[in-house]
Amino acid sequence: MIILSIETSCDETAVSLVRADGDFPNATYTVLGNALRSQIDVHKAYGGVFPSLAKRDHAAVITTLLLRAVEEAGLPGIQRPPTQKDVAAHTRELLTREGSLGDELLALFAEHDLPLIDCIAVTTGPGLEPALWVGVNFAKALAFLLDAPLVPTNHMEGHILASAFEEGRLAPLRFPALALLISGGHTEFILMRGWRQYEKVGQTRDDAVGEAFDKVARLLGLPYPGGPEISALAHDARARNLTSSITLPRPMLDSEDFDVSFSGIKTAVRYAVAKQTLSDDERRALAREFEDAVTEVLLLKTKRAIDTYAIRSLLIGGGVSANQHIRTTFEAELARDYPDLALYIPDPALTTDNSVMIALAGHAHAGDARKNTETIRAEGNKAHRKIPKNTELFT
Ligand code: KG4
Ligand code: ZN
Repeated sequence: MIILSIETSCDETAVSLVRADGDFPNATYTVLGNALRSQIDVHKAYGGVFPSLAKRDHAAVITTLLLRAVEEAGLPGIQRPPTQKDVAAHTRELLTREGSLGDELLALFAEHDLPLIDCIAVTTGPGLEPALWVGVNFAKALAFLLDAPLVPTNHMEGHILASAFEEGRLAPLRFPALALLISGGHTEFILMRGWRQYEKVGQTRDDAVGEAFDKVARLLGLPYPGGPEISALAHDARARNLTSSITLPRPMLDSEDFDVSFSGIKTAVRYAVAKQTLSDDERRALAREFEDAVTEVLLLKTKRAIDTYAIRSLLIGGGVSANQHIRTTFEAELARDYPDLALYIPDPALTTDNSVMIALAGHAHAGDARKNTETIRAEGNKAHRKIPKNTELFT
């Protein structure tokens, strides 16, 4: 099965072509074509992702990314002249809210053959709704033009599967498994009693962990995205043994649940920088203290969940799982305390948003692919934020 996958939920536009040989979760996956563009430079000036700019930028680049992925894959093409009046009109209608995207897509296929694929997977949520709609409408137009069924895909499930993805296969997870999802928009503990079964057992009460990194970075005068910036300063501080005179809180360590909270840590940083002018070394030391506080909270709650649910596999996913200190601390501590636990942290290329993970999630739900795409909608942060309890995601 060849899957064309599309991701536009936040500030990465991505299109992939992935071949799956076999059934989920035992298939072998080959990434045939993969094109990704990050909008970081578009949003840098605003210190965060600006939804209407994100939408515009997705629409501006997605056709080019599709072409790049298709050319890289070198799949055999089929010809179906999009110049036919009804085909062109319906394509434009499906993309009527996305500016000139309909015309661009038709122009692309006037010059190039359509790739032969079996199904299209698109992120429908969670994410920024205007950004999501670009991908969803583009996918609907492609489903029509390519006469392929469309499968709506959950972004968080994509992150989970990306963590389990190694060398073209999904790792043979032992259940119960726990997924710790840490990104700019989410901080969640997801219990998995089997493949495609997700139960959210904990989450942040306020800021997502990546959001906390970004906000603290701004307080320290560092550019967006703040995660890598803080991480670099903290790394320096550790190498030079710099410790901060400021002690940040470790919120909710004593609560019995698996919820976390980061806004108190951020507020403490705000007070600290308002009270005194920090020297460069003090800023480095404070970045280290912040990274330590976040890591300690996440680690303790994770250990508690491992004990409570007798977890046998731990998956860590989302943009913040690129953080070197979090990775090495989890690896060392868990290997020491839980020698039988299997730990999966994705390849750095798969930690941030991408479309390969959407192909994996699409394959997991290929049975839900449908040709009638009318009812498929972008579901921003409200509807899909809660992963349904104990159920399959799309049944
Ligand atoms: O998963 P992602 O690409 O997008 C969302 O779905 O949110 O995550 C982006 C987040 C940003 O907040 C960014 O600052 C953070 O991941 N991030 C990091 C690192 N690299 C990216 N945070 C800490 N350390 C890093 N090395
Ligand atoms: Zn993400």
